[in-house]
Amino acid sequence: MTPQVTTPRTMSPETIFQDLKQKLGNFNPDFELQIKAKLAYEIEQLKKERNAVILGHNYMEPALFNTVPDFKGDSLGLSRRAAETDKDIIVFCGVHFMAETAKILNPEKTVLIPSLKAGCSLAESITAQDVRNLRVQFPGVPIVGYINTYADVKAELDVCCTSGNAVAVVESFGTDTVIFLPDEYLARNVAAETGKHIIFPTMNPGDVAGGDTDLDYQLVGWNGKCEVHDRFTVEDIENVRAEYPDVVILAHPECPPDVVAASDFAGSTSQMVRYVQDVDAPKYLLLTECAMGDNIAAENPHRELLRLCTVRCPHMNQIRLEDTRDALLHTQYVVEIPEEIRLRAYSAVERMLQIG
Ligand code: 13P
Ligand code: SF4
Repeated sequence: MTPQVTTPRTMSPETIFQDLKQKLGNFNPDFELQIKAKLAYEIEQLKKERNAVILGHNYMEPALFNTVPDFKGDSLGLSRRAAETDKDIIVFCGVHFMAETAKILNPEKTVLIPSLKAGCSLAESITAQDVRNLRVQFPGVPIVGYINTYADVKAELDVCCTSGNAVAVVESFGTDTVIFLPDEYLARNVAAETGKHIIFPTMNPGDVAGGDTDLDYQLVGWNGKCEVHDRFTVEDIENVRAEYPDVVILAHPECPPDVVAASDFAGSTSQMVRYVQDVDAPKYLLLTECAMGDNIAAENPHRELLRLCTVRCPHMNQIRLEDTRDALLHTQYVVEIPEEIRLRAYSAVERMLQIG
């Protein structure tokens, strides 16, 4: 999915404030937007001085999302932007594995993540040793790994994928059996879409060969989960449909398979953005990080977005305008990856970018 390019604007705290007021004025008071506008202006100045580019994930909080990013989008679109930039510094307003992906693609550039607390439950769910164990357990079987993994895990993969291209990447192998890591639900959702059978090997850390390697499995999953999307249930969908019978429900494929099946559409964050822009419906509900509903509502005032706002990603929420300014002021926090790991991780990411 091609990320959105932010429209250039004449820059002053007042013009930024007016822009923010137009987009967020219905739910943020002026005095707060004025503070945000000053911060955003400071960041714009620093960006020029430091020859930096800011990449902003769709989950960024509305005041940040609607001001400083040069490019906004999903993991796939932002990886592509990271691969193309000619700036000296990349500030990644997203989570750590995304900033690492930018560094994997740009070893000579300084890549900054504005908070060290911006992790991800999926990336935490698997280690490089787990992947090495699976390679021994399932010799010769290609390993597809979600982009929500750390660099040392990517270094063990054959190819990466994102929620935007997972099916295409799995099908690119043309083999009966594919190992798909680490998101259990995404694997199940990809299996449902591709018609592949899926099993989950029971493995303890340190185990090597399992006893079931001669089964006729076709897609081998791991048991990682997104702590945010795991919280959505079919009951949520039934409750919302009971109150708003004309609502269209969009789910991220990190949601449980029964939730995806009960929804009207499943796709990456940018695919959801595109759906709301392109498909006319009386109301939309997004089963994903809640800030994204605010961001889409701000850019599409003619659309009615319902929100389940108790569901926030605690990691994405670590990144605010203040942290982004401090990142540029103090060159923090620099993302480093040992070259030997980066080179191996690069082939998995590059192979994904070639597939699309
Ligand atoms: P996207 O690739 O759809 O942007 O998703 C990233 C993510 O972390 C979703 O939780
Ligand atoms: Fe990770 Fe889930 Fe947060 Fe996305 S929403 S960054 S998958 S914890």
